[in-house]
Amino acid sequence: MTRTRCDRTSAWRALQAAWDSSGHAFDARQAFAKDPVRFARLSQTAPHVFADLSKNLLDADTEVLLQNLARECGVEAHRNAMFAGEAINSTENRAVMHWLLRFPPLALVQSNHSAIKTVATELTRVHTTLDAMLAYAQAVRDDAAISDVVNIGIGGSDLGPQMAVTALDAFAMPSKRFHFVSNVDGHELDAVLRKLKPESTLFLIASKTFTTIETMTNARSAKAWFAAQGGTDTARHFAALTTNVEAAKAFGISTTFGFWDWVGGRYSLWSAIGLPLAIAIGPQGFREFLAGAHDMDEHFRTAHLARNLPMRLGLLDVWYRNFHGFTSRSIAPYHAALKRYPAYLQQLEMESNGKRVDAAGEAVPFATSPALWGEPGTNGQHAYFQMLHQGVDVVPVEFVGVKKARHALAGHQTLLLANVLAQAQALMEGKEDRGGHKNFPGNRPSTFLLLDELTPTTLGALIALQEHRVFVSGSVWGINSFDQWGVELGKVLAKDVEARLLNGNAEELDGSTAGLLALLRS
Ligand code: F6P
Repeated sequence: MTRTRCDRTSAWRALQAAWDSSGHAFDARQAFAKDPVRFARLSQTAPHVFADLSKNLLDADTEVLLQNLARECGVEAHRNAMFAGEAINSTENRAVMHWLLRFPPLALVQSNHSAIKTVATELTRVHTTLDAMLAYAQAVRDDAAISDVVNIGIGGSDLGPQMAVTALDAFAMPSKRFHFVSNVDGHELDAVLRKLKPESTLFLIASKTFTTIETMTNARSAKAWFAAQGGTDTARHFAALTTNVEAAKAFGISTTFGFWDWVGGRYSLWSAIGLPLAIAIGPQGFREFLAGAHDMDEHFRTAHLARNLPMRLGLLDVWYRNFHGFTSRSIAPYHAALKRYPAYLQQLEMESNGKRVDAAGEAVPFATSPALWGEPGTNGQHAYFQMLHQGVDVVPVEFVGVKKARHALAGHQTLLLANVLAQAQALMEGKEDRGGHKNFPGNRPSTFLLLDELTPTTLGALIALQEHRVFVSGSVWGINSFDQWGVELGKVLAKDVEARLLNGNAEELDGSTAGLLALLRS
């Protein structure tokens, strides 16, 4: 599929002209004063998520230009190609079908998704594996002897399940503890192992490739620990979640749940990689999680551009990155259980869109992925919100608010919601104080995503929303959001440096690396 480079479209020129004439001076406060229905115009309901975009530096006219940009860049056609199972991950010649992992069995749906029949075989495999994995999850839940589940994986094989298990803690069975070991730093595994007994532990070795050095090193150490502690039944205490079933077998693991090369690592939470979540919240909860995501998929696939939330968010990201020049986005979930959500989104956005060449390998002359960072509210308020309110750089903030709490502690929820509303309000309204230390410039943009409750369904929808908004900006930029070649060089060099640390050979190293190597060996 040939795609027009975004900066060569007439919509891009129109956006540039709009930016030059008035966009750069846009003031959200004045926009609210002029337009009594601005909130309605710039907010919308999507499945399980309400979004208020009205505090952004954006009006309906700019949105129309951004929609034109999406059309000229072929974003809808690109989206349809993804939903038709085409190999849009061009550098790896793979389809991109994480959405299929949450598609209901064909027999159960009356879908207008005409392309679904072309991937019917894959869909059947998805459900066979899902059923087997959920039956296993139930068996683990029923196994009273297993008290600790240790997920060993990194990147998408860690961040997704860790984020979701933490987020849905209120739905988890209390009798199992979950541990996530990702870092090759032995301190992490060591600290976990010290709390465990082999007979009550289940290790899940989660790795799409089953070759990632950190995961393999941790898995080998876990296996050695298990044997050294007198553990015998490896089949019962180890399971592998991988596309590389052969490698798992060679490693000595017989219980394996597979997935496919058309599932990217950072999009794999919906596959067997989600097993820790399925054990935590149970098969029914996991199916609700998938169903919430599927509802968002259908919204993204079918809603008109102007009322399509992933489209609107992804296009807003382009407006901010390429016209306003904002370099980052701060993620502020006002729910303590969403504490791993910013880290999860970092990989999703930055590993997907942190690219400097387009899908054809040509360097692009415009900015791509912003940096993402954040902490749950209200903690962030007492750390870096100073900079958000009064720093020189403008950083758009994306709040997540959750209306209903699942605890009964008096006063907390109202205070929490008051804080998230007040922060968004303060960022936009600012406060005039004769330009001194107490002056807040205001007009600082934010988006507000509102969930009624944090449940498996709403979390599924929220995460699918984020996946698709990343798709949209990546698609406008014309990059391949589904590869990650940028992680390769460090991996290769680490192998070389590991050998040098052991043998002391510093030949042909740069002066700094050679100097540090010598210090580390002394
Ligand atoms: O960091 C690169 C990467 O390939 C990620 O995309 C992936 O999520 C992670 O490593 C782990 O890979 P695997 O699941 O194959 O161990």
